Amino acid sequence: MGQVVIAAGAGSIGVTQTTGSHRRHRVVVYGRLERKGCVTNLEWLRSHPRSENLEVLAGDLRLPTPALEREVEVSEASFHMAAQVAVTSSVTDSVADVEVNAMGT
Ligand SMILES: NC(=O)c1ccc[n+]([C@@H]2O[C@H](COP(=O)([O-])OP(=O)(O)OC[C@H]3O[C@@H](n4cnc5c(N)ncnc54)[C@H](O)[C@@H]3O)[C@@H](O)[C@H]2O)c1
Repeated sequence: MGQVVIAAGAGSIGVTQTTGSHRRHRVVVYGRLERKGCVTNLEWLRSHPRSENLEVLAGDLRLPTPALEREVEVSEASFHMAAQVAVTSSVTDSVADVEVNAMGT
């Protein structure tokens, strides 16, 4: 079974990619996972019949993450949907917004 990495695979958009991918692949879901929606999506993914194919790797893409690099190296594909999406946060903390959405990508 091949492997894919999905950055933000527990986010609003990414959870659909994860659900589709873990039918045929081991899926490594990476990202900051503390957002309420992420926690709910992870609970749902873990209750899925294919959840044995799911690996969760918490991390912040602004920081070096050797564990993520190792997973990407052995994966068939990587999908990147991690983003700071809140307009309010982009105004109140624009530095973090640029770090995640521009430099982090
Ligand atoms: N939701 C939509 O309708 C929609 C439509 C078009 C495009 N998009 C794009 O899809 C992407 C994902 O959007 P979403 O709606 O799923 O948002 P979301 O907030 O549900 O998911 C984004 C995820 O990114 C991860 N993340 C944020 N900051 C991070 C960091 N510093 N390090 C690691 N992970 C981090 C978190 O896990 C977070 O849950 C964005 O680029 C968004 O612009 C979304």
